Amino acid sequence: MYRTYTCGELRISDVNKQVTLAGWVQRSRKMGGMTFVDLRDRYGITQLVFNEEVNATLCEQANRLGREYVIQVTGVVRERFSKNANIPTGDIEIIVSELNVLNAALTPPFTIEDNTDGGDDIRMKYRYLDLRRNAVRKNLELRHKMTIEVRKYLDSKGFIEVETPLLIGSTPEGARDFVVPSRMNPGQFYALPQSPQTLKQLLMVSGFDRYFQIAKCFRDEDLRADRQPEFTQIDCEMSFVKQDDVIELFEGMAKYLFKEIREVELTEPFLRMPWADAMKYYGSDKPDLRFGMKFVELMDILKGYGFSVFDNAAYIGGICAKGAACYTRKQLDALTEFVKRPQIGAKGMVYARVEADGNVKSSVDKFYAQEVLQKMKAAFNAQPGDLILILSGDDAMKTRKQLSELRLEMGNQLGLRDKNKFALLWVVDFPMFEWSEEEGRLMAMHHPFTHPKEEDIPLLDTDPASVRADAYDMVCNGIEVGGGSIRIHDAQLQAKMFEILGFTPEKAQEQFGFLMNAFKYGAPPHGGLAYGLDRWVSIFAGLDSIRDCIAFPKNNSGRDVMLDAPGYLDQKQLDELNLVIDIKE
Ligand code: AMO
Repeated sequence: MYRTYTCGELRISDVNKQVTLAGWVQRSRKMGGMTFVDLRDRYGITQLVFNEEVNATLCEQANRLGREYVIQVTGVVRERFSKNANIPTGDIEIIVSELNVLNAALTPPFTIEDNTDGGDDIRMKYRYLDLRRNAVRKNLELRHKMTIEVRKYLDSKGFIEVETPLLIGSTPEGARDFVVPSRMNPGQFYALPQSPQTLKQLLMVSGFDRYFQIAKCFRDEDLRADRQPEFTQIDCEMSFVKQDDVIELFEGMAKYLFKEIREVELTEPFLRMPWADAMKYYGSDKPDLRFGMKFVELMDILKGYGFSVFDNAAYIGGICAKGAACYTRKQLDALTEFVKRPQIGAKGMVYARVEADGNVKSSVDKFYAQEVLQKMKAAFNAQPGDLILILSGDDAMKTRKQLSELRLEMGNQLGLRDKNKFALLWVVDFPMFEWSEEEGRLMAMHHPFTHPKEEDIPLLDTDPASVRADAYDMVCNGIEVGGGSIRIHDAQLQAKMFEILGFTPEKAQEQFGFLMNAFKYGAPPHGGLAYGLDRWVSIFAGLDSIRDCIAFPKNNSGRDVMLDAPGYLDQKQLDELNLVIDIKE
């Protein structure tokens, strides 16, 4: 046996036992005639003791151990003189009688400890070493626990897990595809799934009325903290359901996971906020409701007083930051610079402080009498000590998005976005279509198989832009953790949808013929949802980026720096695949 115990297991009750442990040398220190070694495996750290007076050869051997050597030791468990309350094995140590070096190791490029000296890049390059660190390892353990609980929950509700292929044709999700050339079909390519969307709908036609899959998805899009090119969905689909059925079942799953993983009981039904309200009051389809600062529109109050910026604006709106009137001029200037950054794009910011006597002092006092400012104060229900921040612009949607960025920044600055607080909601009634400047046509906001709200179907002919969809997203702490919809199962309605989206019947047949044909053979009403597993794990683990809960993630340029991928192919492979590389500038 390589080991009789792990490095996280021994306690005071094990004193006097003869044990064998194996693991990695985290660090060693020599104190007089004694050498202490911290032996680590994924379960914990156990202190080993070598005593020169008892066995000089063994102690000398121990002194030659380098960091990350893999060793096996046998010895007796003893109670420690100076206990370490920070670790579960801190009451004991092992008096070693046998040491066996299983493998030597080069000095690692960074220290493998909780507070490492390694920067992001080096840790990504040596990810297999980074994964030895507690901080990263425990995220993968949490991820494992999540997938077990997900499977338990869905199994208990009658779902069956079906694997769908990774080499498929293009799926209509709106991002770019990653493609794979086919050697046997010269000039043709598979696409990796952006999601198993169409396949899960086909499974509904097959009669698997409750399907799920922990599914790898691939999207060639720009990366952010909550986006990886390769990520994992908890992908689900159900037959004979309406929106409420899907929402209820998956809200149940979210509550179950919170209880099992975080021991948080969420008893209230989650808020359901229409998309239009989310945009009006928070400027975002994924509002962070851990804090207030709901938008207040000020067009009626502030227009017409000769301040041309507001007089000419299509939208004027603001937020009230409680207790922030103490912001200095320097802090306010920094906020103005923040909203003027090119990524946000506001032209400027107006602020107003509510003073101790209730008077309002604003950055545009010369245009507004106290009486008008008091009306504004009342609109926010602002109190002495509060700070009002206002943005305006000629495009309401754009300005709301800018105000949303300001709101989130204020939430950060005032410490209102506590990672141990959870605010969940459904955003519902998404618009069916959105206008694409790039394409010059309406595009499906979710995907072309999303069912319009029953009562809006007549509007498809008269005013398609105002049609709402039976689509829903789940949002947690300002992050979209899942999304889904009820699907169209009627061939005629589907054909109309393609027509509005500008597909000719031939093009629709070419791209989605397989699905439309399947629907002619008895498609049940169906709908579903996909949760983003990486996002859930990162929320539960309190991480800033989903990268930290993925074993081998890509960096911001989509590279795996450890594997040095993507890479070039050699000529033989290119020839086999009938590929000619012609890199354009
Ligand atoms: P959607 O595109 O909304 O829906 O994706 C579902 C969920 O997947 C997560 N997600 C991502 N996570 C990490 N990196 C990414 N690049 C990424 N993109 C998406 C999000 C998101 O809410 N087929 C539909 C689902 C359905 O209608 O049933 C779909 O894929 O948490």
